[in-house]
Amino acid sequence: MTGLFVTFEGIEGSGKTTQISMVAAYLESRRIPCLATSEPGGSNLGRTLRKLLLEKSGLHISARSELLLFAADRAQHVEEIIFPALQEGRVVLCDRFSDATTVYQGYGRGLDLDMIDRINDFAAQSLRPGITVLFDMNPERGLDRVRRRDADSPAGPDDRFEVERIEFHQRVREGYLTLAEQEPQRFRVVDADRDIDAVFSDVVAALEGVLGE
Ligand SMILES: Nc1ncnc2c1ncn2[C@@H]1O[C@H](COP(=O)(O)OP(=O)(O)OP(=O)(O)O)[C@@H](O)[C@H]1O
Ligand SMILES: [Mg+2]
Repeated sequence: MTGLFVTFEGIEGSGKTTQISMVAAYLESRRIPCLATSEPGGSNLGRTLRKLLLEKSGLHISARSELLLFAADRAQHVEEIIFPALQEGRVVLCDRFSDATTVYQGYGRGLDLDMIDRINDFAAQSLRPGITVLFDMNPERGLDRVRRRDADSPAGPDDRFEVERIEFHQRVREGYLTLAEQEPQRFRVVDADRDIDAVFSDVVAALEGVLGE
């Protein structure tokens, strides 16, 4: 596997999607082959699973079922999209990955963390990110951004996680920070509560370190 696998994590509204598209443009301008992708939904199967997992359809999904649906999405995504791109030597930029399952289904929903590790490892065929950029910020402020973003879209707020109580998002944030403390060599924690360009310059600095330039 020759490419570099970079994941972007953080609570809702922390700027993952915004920053990934900026990083992809930056890498392309430097003629570094990359692929920007996301979970859930990076594969064809995943797009169907994403609808089930994120839309607030009234469909009841138990915590265990939710964990396994995210794992199914990840298994397909790794095999069909991420591994081939890494084999081509690309830098793969992935919007959420296994850490999101650990914090949302583990720290958020309270499922057993060791079991989640095993399921994540199985789904991802033991693939782990070379580097993980964690966008950290107060969840209330992140959710404010999301509400503003959703107000501009015709569908409006329609996300099973966005409507969770603030305590849930606080546990998710703390979970991410705990993971970052456990693996300081993999994580780069970025203060996401600043303007887009200030955040971006930290992200580029983090990536320059691993791109070796
Ligand atoms: N640094 C920033 N300052 C202010 N607004 C921002 C910043 N970064 C992103 N935004 C805006 O906040 C909203 C949420 O950003 P974005 O969609 O990138 O977050 P996200 O982490 O991908 O969220 P989600 O988890 O819901 O996918 C968007 O409307 C975006 O334009
Ligand atoms: Mg996003």
